[in-house]
Amino acid sequence: MTGDYVSTNKDIWNADAPNWAEFAHRQWTLETPEWGTWNNSEDGINMLPADMAQVDAIELGSGTGYVAYWMLRRGARVTAIDISAEQLATARDLAAQHDADITFIEGNAEETGLPDASFDFVISEYGASIWCKPETWLREAWRLLRPGGRLVFLGNHPLSLICSPLDGSPAQRALHRPYKDMWGADWTEVEYEPTGVCFNLTMAGWMDLFAQIEFAVTRYQEVYAPDHAMGERAAIPADWAKEYPVEQVWHLSKPA
Ligand SMILES: C[S@@+](CC[C@H](N)C(=O)[O-])C[C@H]1O[C@@H](n2cnc3c(N)ncnc32)[C@H](O)[C@@H]1O
Repeated sequence: MTGDYVSTNKDIWNADAPNWAEFAHRQWTLETPEWGTWNNSEDGINMLPADMAQVDAIELGSGTGYVAYWMLRRGARVTAIDISAEQLATARDLAAQHDADITFIEGNAEETGLPDASFDFVISEYGASIWCKPETWLREAWRLLRPGGRLVFLGNHPLSLICSPLDGSPAQRALHRPYKDMWGADWTEVEYEPTGVCFNLTMAGWMDLFAQIEFAVTRYQEVYAPDHAMGERAAIPADWAKEYPVEQVWHLSKPA
């Protein structure tokens, strides 16, 4: 697999942070949340409870903090942890502009140092969900949750990874990698748009891990690009993402 992916990903996100400031600004001002690479509306995906009053919520790998803000606006008490000081700087700046009382923490989502059973709701959108090792961050999410608590996370669909060429060029209607033993991909040395180390598992791999940890799956969604999508985003052509699931959302619960 890979060496010190935590430091690698931290360095990459610190360097890339300025490129996300404008997007973040837009996301913070949305009336209705939009998720993932293709801005799918919360109305169709329902990742967040409508009412989060009295809910202790944490976002793992919170980036520029817009998901944290969406939860705050629904009434939650919100903590957001990210490993990149530069991403957190954008998030803190936007929180000040929006008068948002969010507890931001600089740290590793795989090892937050926060107390056991201190949250009712854990979420990750392209944060820990793809940049952290599944076994490690899922066990951390479990530890942080109170009995009856929920974890919702969005990341790439395994199909989008196996259809992505090894050189980092855009996904195709062809299988470029084995599905068996999928763990993710190291994008640091690829020819096209190198980035960090990302994790993903086969469907059976995810399900086995949830069962080992004792998470119950309450819902699984496969996400496509909307009909009006055009062009290419994150090395996935819109036409591909309209016909094949580009992202997945897992809804899990910790038994009461
Ligand atoms: C695409 S952003 C996703 C967050 C948010 N939804 C957004 O778009 O602003 C990915 C974030 O994951 C963070 N990240 C990567 N590895 C991490 C780790 N081990 N612990 C905490 N955050 C991590 C990065 O610093 C980055 O800010």
